Amino acid sequence: MNLAVILRGLLAASAVCASLVVLANTDNAEIVERLKPAGEVCMAGDECAAAVVEVAAGPRSGKELYDTKCMVCHAAGVAGAPKFGDSAAWDARVSAKGLDGLFDSAWNGINAMPAKGTCNDCTEDEIKSAIAYMTEG
Ligand code: HEC
Repeated sequence: MNLAVILRGLLAASAVCASLVVLANTDNAEIVERLKPAGEVCMAGDECAAAVVEVAAGPRSGKELYDTKCMVCHAAGVAGAPKFGDSAAWDARVSAKGLDGLFDSAWNGINAMPAKGTCNDCTEDEIKSAIAYMTEG
């Protein structure tokens, strides 16, 4: 076998490879298309995704806020915080101040309880649901 034959063989082989790559790419595109759910897929940044993001950014539940913000102190009763599930402690506070009074303390802070329980981006309604979750828990 001389060099020219080898080169021709290599060229032929690479041509086959190139067409396989093209085939493979086509197949991928088809597979991606087939894997899409019946509705159109919304990717972050697409116009259709804006509505999804808005929903996700809606009010967080009382449980969600308790788990991420309030639990740090209210689970173990850090610095005298009324504990989650200690209904006697919570009932006493609700009777003394009412839910509105508890909201005022939570919103503005009271003693070792920081304003908004460190949830600085919480809305009034979100703090109220976190309080409802804790007082009922
Ligand atoms: C850094 C610790 C800490 C975090 C975080 C925290 N709390 Fe508190 N919380 C306290 C302490 C301490 C008290 C008791 C204050 C007192 O009566 O002296 C308290 C008391 C309260 C009270 C009762 C207030 C009253 O007037 O009796 C409410 C309601 C409350 N917290 C809500 C929340 C909510 C809602 C969150 C989360 C969004 C939260 N707390 C996060 C420490 C914390």
